[in-house]
Amino acid sequence: MSCPNGKIRVGAGLTRLGRPWGVTRAPVPTEHEARVFLETAMSLGVDIFDTAPSYGESESRLGHFLDALGTAERARAFVATKFGEAWDGASDDIVVDHSYAALARSLERSLDRLGHIDLIQLHRSTADALRSAEVRRAFALARTLGVPAIGASVSRVEDARVALETLGVEWLQFPYHVGNAYMEPAFALAIEHGARVLVNRPFGMGAIVQQGEGGFPESAFRFILGQRFCGAILTGTASPAHLRENVAAFARSVGDNDAPESE
Ligand SMILES: NC(=O)c1ccc[n+]([C@@H]2O[C@H](COP(=O)([O-])OP(=O)(O)OC[C@H]3O[C@@H](n4cnc5c(N)ncnc54)[C@H](OP(=O)(O)O)[C@@H]3O)[C@@H](O)[C@H]2O)c1
Repeated sequence: MSCPNGKIRVGAGLTRLGRPWGVTRAPVPTEHEARVFLETAMSLGVDIFDTAPSYGESESRLGHFLDALGTAERARAFVATKFGEAWDGASDDIVVDHSYAALARSLERSLDRLGHIDLIQLHRSTADALRSAEVRRAFALARTLGVPAIGASVSRVEDARVALETLGVEWLQFPYHVGNAYMEPAFALAIEHGARVLVNRPFGMGAIVQQGEGGFPESAFRFILGQRFCGAILTGTASPAHLRENVAAFARSVGDNDAPESE
């Protein structure tokens, strides 16, 4: 199978850019800090962005940043977002709604904020939702509105299988890190179905950082690069300095790993 750009890449997971997140629940960056972070990402060649409507200000901040880019740079950015989950900032509650009406409304709002979307993923996918006519219809709407790829964000291997077999998703997103490898069979499923992968929570939402594991962050990347897949590892930092550190560590880890280039 041929991979995008022929290799596994680092992408920027943008939850932290819009809402408190991770084991530290660090405060959300200011507008200025968010812009500096996104500029740093692009300058480091990190141009795969993963956001969602349930990440607070994340989508609109990314949208404003993308708006200000020149045509060539904008074209370089790969924008992945989601639908199916909302976050209430006041109560900190999450609401999952996989009805067609909610998905269509969410998608249209995301398109308004982001301009172009390269990948739309069903957030909090379950086997039942993935089999539903409403979700199928929402993905058809996305295609009609010019979104070229569909995906599913899953947290169970069985749901990954249903997403691939029932909906033929082109991308799977799931958690995988040194502290939690239960999704490992999903890598082989993705390869088998010609799908690409976005690995989320590569540092366990910061838990691995806190444990101060030896060799971090290379050790965390090496663990993930032990799997064969096409796609990206979504680092979840909102700090330009940590992003630089992670990109450098990833490059060293790729060097250490035999061949993340998969054909
Ligand atoms: N679909 C889903 O349901 C789902 C669920 C979870 C995540 N995701 C996606 O995956 C992305 C990544 O997941 P995640 O946000 O949990 O990421 P993560 O990389 O596992 O953890 C992020 C945490 O690690 C810290 N960190 C990162 N690099 C560091 C470094 N070099 N030194 C010290 N601390 C560091 C960050 O703090 P600093 O900001 O201070 O660096 C942040 O608190 C998300 O942003 C989102 O796009 C999706």
